[in-house]
Amino acid sequence: MRVVNLSEQNSVLNQFLREIRDVNIQKDSMRFRRNIERIGEFMAMEVSKTLTYQPTEVQTPLATATVNTISDRLVLATILRAGMPLHQGFLNIFDHAENGFLSAYRRLNDKGELEIVAEYMAAPDINGKTLIVVDPMLATGMSMEVGYLALLRHGKPAYTHLCCAIATPQSIDYMRKALDDRQDVTLWCAAVDPVLNDKKYIVPGLGDAGDLCYGTKIHLSDR
Ligand code: URA
Repeated sequence: MRVVNLSEQNSVLNQFLREIRDVNIQKDSMRFRRNIERIGEFMAMEVSKTLTYQPTEVQTPLATATVNTISDRLVLATILRAGMPLHQGFLNIFDHAENGFLSAYRRLNDKGELEIVAEYMAAPDINGKTLIVVDPMLATGMSMEVGYLALLRHGKPAYTHLCCAIATPQSIDYMRKALDDRQDVTLWCAAVDPVLNDKKYIVPGLGDAGDLCYGTKIHLSDR
């Protein structure tokens, strides 16, 4: 698995990251969602540089021009709910992509261990296509792994890009082991933060991305 950390190079991406982390700016949920979307747009541009292209002819009002266009068939897949603005950012750039959605949530099992439960999936055939799985916070890597494996039930992609805003060293190691160091996967992140706390939140991170996008949730078990 290849790993690309986009903040190793300075770019405008730093500004989007700064704003989603800022405890005051992130209170503006419209701005927070839009910044996550902008990270998706930026990352999609970077991913686009690794795709395959073929020359196509286009008729202008004056003559014919030759343009190299993407020949990969793209499928964008997202883990609900926090993945939605990042997905939209990718879709703004890859507007011809097919789309897939999965639900996954964390729960403690009978042994008190964290596990990820995937319940719902609506996704197209991904056989031979380029799969882009987006999940903004790669905290443990478990949701991404569960999502990716669930998607493989819809076919074998030609190549997979796993895309997140913030990862941790632990989640990157976890993904490397889970994917058995596959050569047909790239993990893209906008930043790698050092710590995963005991509640499995990334530190310094930004807090709960889903809540910041869509408001706080309640757990029926808390009632
Ligand atoms: N999910 C989040 O939204 N934030 C984290 O820090 C980890 C997982």
